[in-house]
Amino acid sequence: MYIAMNRFQVLLESEDAFRQRWLDREVLLTTVPGFKSFALLRGPVKEDHILWSSHTVWESHEAFKAWTQSEQFRKAHAGAGGNKPLTLGPPVFEGFEVVQQIDN
Ligand code: HEM
Repeated sequence: MYIAMNRFQVLLESEDAFRQRWLDREVLLTTVPGFKSFALLRGPVKEDHILWSSHTVWESHEAFKAWTQSEQFRKAHAGAGGNKPLTLGPPVFEGFEVVQQIDN
């Protein structure tokens, strides 16, 4: 399994717009082979930003890589970057191989 995360430093005054953008999007992930789950995470509030993260779980690193080269990825990001910046800078990507997983 593979976990792909993107961290966004969201401007304090742009949080509502950022949240709405994600909640209103057309979700294409469920059509992608090897996709397991998605979560949108709201983290700590700092002085000049709020940390948000997108979290996806994939059957394999290969499945994730294939998605990044797919039409679904291109479509999901066609408007990313946008006109008015909602974040302090570009998102920071981190990918993880799952070494141990325990579910209840
Ligand atoms: C390897 C890099 C990236 C990964 C893994 C990633 C991950 C994701 C995922 C999983 C979604 C949801 C797609 C869906 O529901 O079908 C998404 C949408 C989105 N991504 Fe990314 N992303 C990446 C690069 C970027 C970059 C560079 C930006 C900003 C410049 C960005 C901004 C967004 C935004 C704002 C959305 C919400 C959809 C929308 O605005 O229409 N992403 N991304």
